[in-house]
Amino acid sequence: MEPGAERSEGEAETGVPRVGVLVSGRGSNLEAIFAAILHGELRARVGIVISSRPDASALTIAANYQAPTRVIVPKEYQSRADAGNAILAALRQAQVELVVLAGYKPILDSCVVDAYPLRIINIHPSLLPAFAGGMAPRPQADALAAGVKITGCTAHFVTTVVDEGPIIAQTPVPVYDSDTVEELSARILEREHQMLPRVIADVLYGTVRVEGRRVLIQPRPPETEE
Ligand code: GRF
Repeated sequence: MEPGAERSEGEAETGVPRVGVLVSGRGSNLEAIFAAILHGELRARVGIVISSRPDASALTIAANYQAPTRVIVPKEYQSRADAGNAILAALRQAQVELVVLAGYKPILDSCVVDAYPLRIINIHPSLLPAFAGGMAPRPQADALAAGVKITGCTAHFVTTVVDEGPIIAQTPVPVYDSDTVEELSARILEREHQMLPRVIADVLYGTVRVEGRRVLIQPRPPETEE
């Protein structure tokens, strides 16, 4: 069945679009999504949290917010495609219409990427295309080592090429002379937490167009009083 068909069933049931979040570790971006939902800043529901690791603290965060969870460890499958199919089945069963990679470490199989065109978002702790590839804290450490004075975070659509998909939003973050990797990472993370829920809302509710590499989002017009 097409994800779109499942989407309308899910929406008809709750009226609130469902988001699937893929995690591997700490889960602070996942928590920022839950907080934005709780505070009415993001009209969405986390339909499923899928972790690539059974010991990820993101799973505890998901449980605290009563969100359904699944653990799908890619290396327990015969191939990346098999793991991808398991992820896809879980996302479809949860009737999600948008997928967010929030600190998800494995490379997502193309069967998942192809099933959700312009519907999978990743958050990366640098101003892409600078310091692409590598998981946190490598991009932050590389930025520090490169001597850049400004780095930041990027939300982008996921394609089959790691960290290469069209950029949706970026937030700059200054690098201070006294910074350690931990200090810089914390400053970037704060910005990730602010940017990610906004990007999710924009993609869920705006009209998304991609021209070449440029993502153009027309925000939903403000609701008018009846
Ligand atoms: C963040 O720095 C994010 O940019 C990167 O992985 C980290 C995840 O942190 N992709 P958390 O698990 O959301 O706390």
